Amino acid sequence: MFILTSILNEEPEAETGLKFSAPAADDWVEIRRLIGLFRLDADDLSSDQFVVCKNGETLLGFGRLKRHPECDELSSLAVLRNFRGRGIGRRIVAELLGAVDRPVFIVTVIPAYFARLGFVETKSFPLSIKIKLAGCETVCGGGPTVMIPAAKFETGV
Ligand SMILES: CC(C)(COP(=O)(O)OP(=O)(O)OC[C@H]1O[C@@H](n2cnc3c(N)ncnc32)[C@H](O)[C@@H]1OP(=O)(O)O)[C@@H](O)C(=O)NCCC(=O)NCCS
Repeated sequence: MFILTSILNEEPEAETGLKFSAPAADDWVEIRRLIGLFRLDADDLSSDQFVVCKNGETLLGFGRLKRHPECDELSSLAVLRNFRGRGIGRRIVAELLGAVDRPVFIVTVIPAYFARLGFVETKSFPLSIKIKLAGCETVCGGGPTVMIPAAKFETGV
């Protein structure tokens, strides 16, 4: 199981009333709309790969663990503008990494954010991530970075 200490130890005051779970059927239209709005990865969307953060019935944010043949990829992370800066993004990432049982990567144009969560840049990654990186370089043009969680994986758990 993945060790989440680096993320959870830095968690700011936890908001009360927040629930982290798989998306309900009703959330799905809004998730797709926000993925388009924030220009996030919309390829091969599948609701079972997502974690959402909700307050009651209100969707505040979401993220995804995209399955590749050789690895998982953290992607499509977003928090609604009015709810940013409250640790929701960090907690969604922690929830997603809690389910990881193989190498996980992120291709991102905001490496400074993920560095705060304990991710580090890597130059070594499998073909699926190379393909994603090439696609991002074409679309973003802004020099995306590939990162991995700095915490180690424990084997045999
Ligand atoms: C990135 C995003 C998910 C962060 O969500 P969040 O809930 O605000 O994140 P957290 O509350 O966990 O962390 C907020 C902290 O990160 C910092 N932060 C946010 N974006 C950052 C960035 N691009 N670079 C560095 N730090 C950043 C904030 O300044 C804040 O710092 P503070 O705690 O010192 O005030 C949110 O800004 C978002 O939805 N952005 C648009 C979509 C996007 O870019 N997704 C990532 C695609 S790889």
